[in-house]
Amino acid sequence: MPEAGVASTSRGLGRAVIFLGPPGAGKGTQTRKIAESYNVPHLSTGDMFREHVGRGTPLGQRAKPIMERGELVPDDLVLSMVEDRISRPDCGDGFILDGFPRTLPQAEKLDEILRRRFKSEPLVVHFVVDPNQLMRRLTGRRTCAIGGEIYNVYDHPPKVPGRCDRDGGELVQRPDDREEVIAERLAAYERQTRPLVDYYRGRGVLKDVDGMDAPAAVTKNVLELLAQK
Ligand code: AP5
Repeated sequence: MPEAGVASTSRGLGRAVIFLGPPGAGKGTQTRKIAESYNVPHLSTGDMFREHVGRGTPLGQRAKPIMERGELVPDDLVLSMVEDRISRPDCGDGFILDGFPRTLPQAEKLDEILRRRFKSEPLVVHFVVDPNQLMRRLTGRRTCAIGGEIYNVYDHPPKVPGRCDRDGGELVQRPDDREEVIAERLAAYERQTRPLVDYYRGRGVLKDVDGMDAPAAVTKNVLELLAQK
């Protein structure tokens, strides 16, 4: 069920929407709300890898040590996983990508897939945040082990400590939300992912959103952007 204030529709997006921004920018928080509102799938490559790690698949076994170091998983592993997911029928009315693409080769491959599938450009929503806030956001993050709802022990705590407000699930800390790993993830973002901001801005498909606003205000601003033609 959508959250209060986030109306659900069955209108779809008709295109791919990419949420771009550093670790802790609020991509996951917003992806869940916006995907519910538009009734489209959200594809988080981080969640997909965490699921593989949890199931101990060969892909998960390769990704696990890389994620634990805060580095990016090699492009070929990411691309085959994403291409497979995008080709499923539920992505036909559009979808939201959270955490992908993260390198130029990933962006170029995605362009190729989208040209075939949608014949339209993606919309890239770029979350602009104060880098000084990211460490606090990430060390304070807790995630529901059942439904994936995202909390923050400092700024958005659950009503009952350690339990999800929605389904009572246990709130857990991601293994890569330790300070030294966060530092490497932020460095990887600057090195490998930030160049995508210019890549998409140069094509006129990128819109900035102030990620320092309160989460509900960010949701409202993203919904307004998506409603524009
Ligand atoms: P991934 O899972 O994608 O992690 P990430 O990009 O590091 O992003 P996060 O999930 O940490 O942050 P977020 O922006 O979603 O923030 P959130 O909404 O949770 O990737 C993990 C790893 O997988 C990578 O390091 C890599 O190894 C691998 N990987 C994944 N994709 C890959 C790819 N394409 N290529 C290669 N490798 C890949 O919010 C964070 C906190 O802030 C929460 O506590 C939340 O409550 C709080 N918060 C959110 N919004 C606000 C707000 N507006 N105001 C105040 N607090 C807020």
